[in-house]
Amino acid sequence: MPRYFTTPLSTARLILRRLQPDDATALQRYRARPDVARYQSWETYTMADASTMIAAMAEAEPGVAGTWFQLAIVEQTSGALVGDCGLHCSGEDDRLMELGITLAPEAQGRGYAGEALTAVIAFLFTQLAKHRICAVTDAENTAAIALFRRLGFRQEATFIEHLWFKGRWSSECVFALLRAEWSQPHATGPIN
Ligand SMILES: CC(C)(COP(=O)(O)OP(=O)(O)OC[C@H]1O[C@@H](n2cnc3c(N)ncnc32)[C@H](O)[C@@H]1OP(=O)(O)O)[C@@H](O)C(=O)NCCC(=O)NCCS
Repeated sequence: MPRYFTTPLSTARLILRRLQPDDATALQRYRARPDVARYQSWETYTMADASTMIAAMAEAEPGVAGTWFQLAIVEQTSGALVGDCGLHCSGEDDRLMELGITLAPEAQGRGYAGEALTAVIAFLFTQLAKHRICAVTDAENTAAIALFRRLGFRQEATFIEHLWFKGRWSSECVFALLRAEWSQPHATGPIN
C-alpha cells in the first residue's frame, strides 16, 4: 500500500506524526505507569511492546477497515513525545471510526488532548470523509469523559458493569460525534 499519511498534522503547540523507532523509550515510560494504564487495555508495557507497536505502524495507514493507526503526539517547543492517539477504523464499515488517546502525566492538564483530538477529528471528517467517530471510556475515567464532552461528543450509552476488567466489574460510556454534527458550528450558510 502506498504511504499516504506523509504530512504530519499540526496544531498551535503540537505535531501529530507517525511513530518512529526512537519514540520507543518515551512511549514505554509513560504507558508503563499504573496511573496511565489504569483504564487502558494493557496491564504492563515493555520496551518490546513499544517496539512492536512502532514497527507495526511503519506500514499502517489511517482509516483502513479493521485496523488501528497510532499517531505520536509531539510537543513543538521541546520535540518530546508527550502522548499517542489511536484511530480505529471499523472492520464492518470503514466510514466509522473510534478514537483513543494517552498522554504522559506531565503533559496532562494543559489542553493537549483536546488540541490533538480537534486536529484528528478535522482530519477524519474532512480528509478521510469519515461519517462517525466514537470513543469508549471507563465510567470512572473522569478526565476522558470531560475531554470528549468538551469536544462536543454526545454520550450515547452507559453500559453498567458489563465488563470484567482488571479485577472488577467495569462500566463504560460510549460517546459519538457525526460529521454533520461536527460541521454545523463551522457552517457559514444554511444547511440543506
Ligand atoms: C484522557 C486524557 C488524555 C485527558 O487529558 P487531559 O490533559 O485531562 O485533557 P486536556 O488536554 O483536554 O486538558 C484539559 C485540562 O487542561 C486544562 N488546561 C490548561 N491549559 C489549557 C489550555 N491551553 N487549553 C485547554 N485546556 C487547558 C483544562 O482546564 C483541563 O483541566 P482540568 O482537567 O483540571 O479541568 C488523560 O487523562 C490521559 O492520558 N489519561 C490516561 C490514558 C486514558 O485513560 N485515556 C483515555 C482513553 S479513552
